[in-house]
Amino acid sequence: MSQTVLEINELTKQLNRKNIVHNASFQMKKGEILGLLGPNGAGKTTTIRMIVGLIKKTSGKVYINGRDLDEEGLACKSEIGAIVENPAFYDHMSGYKNLEQYARMAKNTISKKRVDEVVELVKLTGAIHDKVKKYSLGMKQRLGVAQAILHEPALLILDEPTNGLDPKGIRDLRDYLKQLADNGISTLVSSHLLSEMQLMCDRVVIMEKGKIINISNIHEEEEAEGAAGQLVALRVADSHIGLAEEAIAGFKEVTLSQRENGSVLLLKMPHDVLPELNRRLVQAGVDVFGLESRRSTLEDKFLALTSEKSDELQKEAT
Ligand SMILES: Nc1ncnc2c1ncn2[C@@H]1O[C@H](COP(=O)(O)OP(=O)(O)OP(=O)(O)O)[C@@H](O)[C@H]1O
Ligand SMILES: [Mg+2]
Repeated sequence: MSQTVLEINELTKQLNRKNIVHNASFQMKKGEILGLLGPNGAGKTTTIRMIVGLIKKTSGKVYINGRDLDEEGLACKSEIGAIVENPAFYDHMSGYKNLEQYARMAKNTISKKRVDEVVELVKLTGAIHDKVKKYSLGMKQRLGVAQAILHEPALLILDEPTNGLDPKGIRDLRDYLKQLADNGISTLVSSHLLSEMQLMCDRVVIMEKGKIINISNIHEEEEAEGAAGQLVALRVADSHIGLAEEAIAGFKEVTLSQRENGSVLLLKMPHDVLPELNRRLVQAGVDVFGLESRRSTLEDKFLALTSEKSDELQKEAT
């Protein structure tokens, strides 16, 4: 049986009688990377702050490795490494000196070997003896992660860690979170970008207006989709919709699932049929403006949630 590292149970935060987070519950297993996904203001940071004990919860429970945060706060906190606000460093000191300083303040002894290990893990070896004031945002972020995992926590919590990172930085982060996961460390990571979460996480918890509205297992959904065929968006010239539909009708592997904005057809089909479909469309004289795979039911769920949001904004504006 795999071990539960984090459990939150009906976690609620009320401010000025308003529920900022309302009855949020989920669990995380050892070695799992869990995404907390939601638009701005959904309550992600507030949830995280309650878990790490930066703010008081109004009600509900937090358990870290089975321990109750209310009863064994210190023991719980020693199991967590987190970057919630931007981590503060001594700018005039090297990254290495910063880590050493931090290691000295830690409750348990942290060896030099451990410091070197985390530096290597976050790929800062080449720059670790440079002063932090010379670091780029991405390097500071790596140093932040290094610092957060120095004391070998069971649970790493990162609030919007990809903010400001370039694509390579994001990929590197993904890589070392996976590496941590392989070593049994669980990571809770928040973001408002679904595409990132899909690549990074095992499961995603979707939050909206303080409530958890969905929990999805990325791998299971991907497998289910693979079996049922993928969703492909076909964009054609407006006047060629009829032609395109005819060409598609002759294809037994392809089903038309929806028409979007007039000239986009959403199709379900096995992945390997795509090139042949493209050929037949062109042969039928259809001008194809785009043929791209669409990810997932999860994306649909998330879009439904965000479009609700934009409907509301429109209502507010009128
Ligand atoms: N100290 C506070 N006082 C009043 N309202 C607050 C406070 N902190 C947060 N809120 C409100 O709670 C809601 C949730 O905020 P939170 O920062 O948790 O959202 P988030 O999901 O992290 O958003 P973002 O993606 O913008 O970081 C927001 O509407 C915010 O305005
Ligand atoms: Mg936030």
